[in-house]
Amino acid sequence: MKKIILLTVLILPICAFAEKFKGLAPTPPMGWNSWNTFELNINENLIKETAEALIKSGMKDAGYTYIVIDDGWESMERDPNGNIVPDPNKFPAGMKALGDYLHDKGFKFGIHNCAGTKTCAGYPGGRGHEFQDARAYASWGVDYLKYDWCNHGTANAEETYRTMGNALYATGRPIVYSLCEWGNTKPWEWAKDIGHLWRTTGDITDCYDCQQVYSMGWKFILASQIGLEKYAGPDHWNDPDMLEVGNPGLTLAESRSHFSLWCILAAPLMAGNDVRKMSDDIRDILTNKEVIAIDQDPLGKQGYQYMLHVGKEIWAKELSNGCWAVCFFNNGLDDVKLKINWSNLPFLKGNYEIRDLWQKKNIGTTDKEYLGDLPARDVILVKLTPVK
Ligand code: GLA
Repeated sequence: MKKIILLTVLILPICAFAEKFKGLAPTPPMGWNSWNTFELNINENLIKETAEALIKSGMKDAGYTYIVIDDGWESMERDPNGNIVPDPNKFPAGMKALGDYLHDKGFKFGIHNCAGTKTCAGYPGGRGHEFQDARAYASWGVDYLKYDWCNHGTANAEETYRTMGNALYATGRPIVYSLCEWGNTKPWEWAKDIGHLWRTTGDITDCYDCQQVYSMGWKFILASQIGLEKYAGPDHWNDPDMLEVGNPGLTLAESRSHFSLWCILAAPLMAGNDVRKMSDDIRDILTNKEVIAIDQDPLGKQGYQYMLHVGKEIWAKELSNGCWAVCFFNNGLDDVKLKINWSNLPFLKGNYEIRDLWQKKNIGTTDKEYLGDLPARDVILVKLTPVK
């Protein structure tokens, strides 16, 4: 009897324990994901052409290294042994070959599946196959798993995501684990030891402030991130969903603001446009290294909304070496003149050099008032560096 009691005491804490590869996402992951533009219209050639375009456009050099294949890569049925298999028409060479191709080009290989019985698009989900699937992903050289939440029935989110996390860990291959539970059960409160990032909202779509049944524009998502900043940090990021930068429903100013604010949020930067066909203006937004550096700052602090007035918002992000990023966002329909008295921003201490990150030039110091034009739905994004 004593033995049984002792065993129970030993086993219980082990079952509840989550295993996670540490240090895989010291800064928010960056890459490209197929879903926002291509949905189920994906195949081997598209992925290879995208990899080439990421290299040619300078995006890979700017840090976009994960290429993530979202829903719809699977065959509709598992094989007779229950293995998950790719659609032979879309991915005739198989996933191992595609992973090798991406690795040879210097990318990391990401894939999507779902914690439910089926993915949102009706392909086989991972429920009950977690360890088998994790072994398959590891054998294909997968470096990143986005794990969705459709068709989960009555399953408990924390337990279910922990099971897949443990399955990934058991493979011995370091795989970034991206929880896509849409924020339903506040994963920021329980997922830190399970995954490297977790979705905080439903799906983004390519508009500024539209609302659809299952998706919404980035302006709504931005508003829903307020207060979540304290939950993010190195290796455990809030994910307000992938980028719509460059997609048809956004103007250039809306794309620039979206990108700036996602960087203030220390959001994972997963481009979701057709990078084979993007304009130079969009490429310049996505590859602005000084703006990306705000997102990727090693201090790993998510920024926050400091002020909200009708038409105007101020967002701030603390950076390493005593620096700050400040984003002035005109969320209204009229152009405004911006007059900033820096001493009104209580988080600033002393005098700072101001660098305008979109104009790419230094524009003075914070001991003087700043006057600038802020067009509708646009931003002024500055980095402030203490004057020595
Ligand atoms: C969910 C996710 C999306 C995408 C689709 C694929 O809606 O939130 O990001 O992965 O599933 O079906």
